[in-house]
Amino acid sequence: MQQEKKIPSHIAFIMDGNGRWAKKRLLPRKAGHREGVSALRRMVDACADAGVEMVSFYAFSTENWTRPQEEIDALFKMVSEFADKHLSEYVRRGFRIMFMGDLSKLPSDTVAALKKIIEEAKDNTGMVVNIALNYGGRDEILRAVNKIISAGIREVDIQTLSDCMYTGGLPDPDVIVRSSGEKRLSNFMLWQAAYSELVFVDELWPDFDSAVFDKIIEEYSKRDRRYGNIRRIG
Ligand code: FPP
Repeated sequence: MQQEKKIPSHIAFIMDGNGRWAKKRLLPRKAGHREGVSALRRMVDACADAGVEMVSFYAFSTENWTRPQEEIDALFKMVSEFADKHLSEYVRRGFRIMFMGDLSKLPSDTVAALKKIIEEAKDNTGMVVNIALNYGGRDEILRAVNKIISAGIREVDIQTLSDCMYTGGLPDPDVIVRSSGEKRLSNFMLWQAAYSELVFVDELWPDFDSAVFDKIIEEYSKRDRRYGNIRRIG
């Protein structure tokens, strides 16, 4: 019997393996990141075509600052170019655009490019494209706790903390996908991942295409999501 296809409302990607993709081809690491941007664009298109409501990408973690300065500079240059060229196209397609993470530490020209996009997209109502930049899951939880303390709230429930996350008011990821065969979350969406399905794919991130996307949907469709209950929900 053919499996009924289930489309997640929110799919999140941990983009891994750009460096290995480049190394295999004797190319500089930044060539892997450049191909990584193309893969990200392919996944945005695949998600939009499939009717996904929100897609998240882990682009730069709070730990990535330990990489060589040359690689960091190349990455943020790519983010700025991506904003000018492709995020502006997404704005025209009606996508909502958000960034999660502490943007204040990013190069000022990158921050300016991102702010311009946030302003342009503010009235959009389409698929949410969420990009994590200088993001860490533990940092996000601490930031939420400090927000709550500053507001003078003395008793906290799950809803209050959820509302104080960068993703407040938006759905938790139904599925978190990591590329390149690594099987860990690496500080990504720790709070929101409570009931996410985890899908680990061997392909390196730059090799992600519509066939890999279809494989992910097929795997997700097979999962029996119970949320602690004994029977399948949704
Ligand atoms: C992990 O691969 C990838 C990253 C740390 C960067 C991801 C960034 C992009 C795909 C491009 C920039 C993003 C935007 C939004 C324009 P790795 O370098 O750790 O790979 P490795 O484990 O094979 O070395």
